[in-house]
Amino acid sequence: MTNIVKADQLTKTFGNVKALDHCDLEIKKGEIFGYLGPSGAGKTTTIKLLTGQLHSDSGEVTVLGKDPFSPDIKKKIGIMSDMSGLYEKMTVYENLDLFADIYGIRDKKEKIRRTLEAVELLDAAKKKVEKLSRGMKQRLVFARTILHDPGLLFLDEPTANLDPATADEIRDLIRRLNREGATVFLTTHNMEEADELCHRVALLNKGSIVESGSPEELKYSHKRVVITTKEGKREVPLEREALLESLGQAGEVLMIHSEEPSLRDVFLTLTKEEQ
Ligand SMILES: Nc1ncnc2c1ncn2[C@@H]1O[C@H](COP(=O)(O)OP(=O)(O)OP(=O)(O)O)[C@@H](O)[C@H]1O
Ligand SMILES: [Mg+2]
Repeated sequence: MTNIVKADQLTKTFGNVKALDHCDLEIKKGEIFGYLGPSGAGKTTTIKLLTGQLHSDSGEVTVLGKDPFSPDIKKKIGIMSDMSGLYEKMTVYENLDLFADIYGIRDKKEKIRRTLEAVELLDAAKKKVEKLSRGMKQRLVFARTILHDPGLLFLDEPTANLDPATADEIRDLIRRLNREGATVFLTTHNMEEADELCHRVALLNKGSIVESGSPEELKYSHKRVVITTKEGKREVPLEREALLESLGQAGEVLMIHSEEPSLRDVFLTLTKEEQ
């Protein structure tokens, strides 16, 4: 599969804070890629570097085979960060109309109608943004992100601060767009979301990627065998040598079973180890 985003040894420092430290990334066409990491890990900084909003100190980035600062890239990508870009005093329709002009969309009336339909905001088209609920605003931001049919989406915490039902709707939208061919790069703090939505994830901690792979691979590689003896339980990695050694030392074994961690457990283990 082709790499639609590629970063080599990407580094960015703010003063004495190393926000990103020699980071390598490869996003393949058609995948939903989850970029996970604790607050301050460097996720938003990465998105800014990949979307031509920030220059790196060093390293290489190509997006759709080009430099992210090249002028024609902006029309081919969709970026969703937060709600600050909406015009509160304008209606839902007017907000999209403005962006349709910026993107030079032809047949914009029909395009806006179809996009509003996709995010289930058609009935609210004439409402002022200030009167919308948080979930509706989030869906409008999403509508704006996909209005120009970008093949590549960068979604920075698309479901943050949403109630579970609205978050589900946003996830459904992401899945649908992905099925229709869009490649998605998303950040999230929600590990269940990453597990359910993403084909591959990378775990970022303090500016470095500490692990990457499919959620299944990550969970499998952190699988543990639990050996129960009279003295108590001990956890051993699923690895022949370690297992035999522990069994040799364990005394009378009462029970052996294996436990697969959740993605959340993997995340917590890896980010704790790195501190
Ligand atoms: N413009 C800036 N000036 C100075 N420091 C910055 C700037 N942008 C980010 N940083 C710092 O870089 C580090 C990474 O920030 P970043 O916003 O990329 O983290 P994040 O992973 O997106 O966190 P969160 O999950 O809270 O959104 C942090 O220490 C942050 O304080
Ligand atoms: Mg962020």
